[in-house]
Amino acid sequence: MKFEDSVMGINYIDAGYSGVIQVAVLRMTYVSMVNYSYLVVDHINNQAVIVDPAWDMEKVERALEDTGTILSGILLTHAHPDHTDLAKPLAAKYNCPIWMSNEEIAGSGFYAPQLVGIDTTPWPMGQIQIQPIFTPGHTPGGMCYLIGNSLFTGDTLFAEGCGLCPDVKAAHDMYASLEYLKSKLKPETRVFPGHSYGKQPGQEFSQILKDNIYLQFKNKNDFTAYRLRKGQNRLSFFDFR
Ligand SMILES: [Fe+2]
Repeated sequence: MKFEDSVMGINYIDAGYSGVIQVAVLRMTYVSMVNYSYLVVDHINNQAVIVDPAWDMEKVERALEDTGTILSGILLTHAHPDHTDLAKPLAAKYNCPIWMSNEEIAGSGFYAPQLVGIDTTPWPMGQIQIQPIFTPGHTPGGMCYLIGNSLFTGDTLFAEGCGLCPDVKAAHDMYASLEYLKSKLKPETRVFPGHSYGKQPGQEFSQILKDNIYLQFKNKNDFTAYRLRKGQNRLSFFDFR
């Protein structure tokens, strides 16, 4: 099943398993900001998890309605408000867990009654597994999530760049996180970032490997010098290059 909800502008992408798993791409806007949340739908069990829900509750409800699924959990890549804005109201409404890395919880102080701290142990969602991949750098406890052939990267990896790093240690961590992704991901993995700077979400990792300058560095010091170079607006969501 692949279709687009022409009213709400939601794109549904077949994520493998013979059409059993689908990714609904939810483009969320708030003032001048644009984020991507993703609903990962399991059509056998009629359940879904959402990654980094923010701002547009109506769009989330519409995607659940379109797919005939119930929300069974909320995956957070990190604690920044543009990725977590709807986590608490959704968890309260659907009585479902919010997952975030233990390190991110400790570093951010994020709290919700339904919050569950996680490490990198995978767990099942119906027929498939959710595999957390620890990717600190943008924040101390950043997590990516691999579900089937789809990787949800938050602000760790964009198609066109990577997330801002506040200092040298964070940039070193980011370099190691990106190297780890390079060593683990299959070329055909689809990457779904928290923001887009021109390219559609769902690019193949093999393409991002070629295009993304942050994946070209051969050592952490060169990477760090570039990531922390002068002239960047550290408050801008859009300073990713
Ligand atoms: Fe962020």
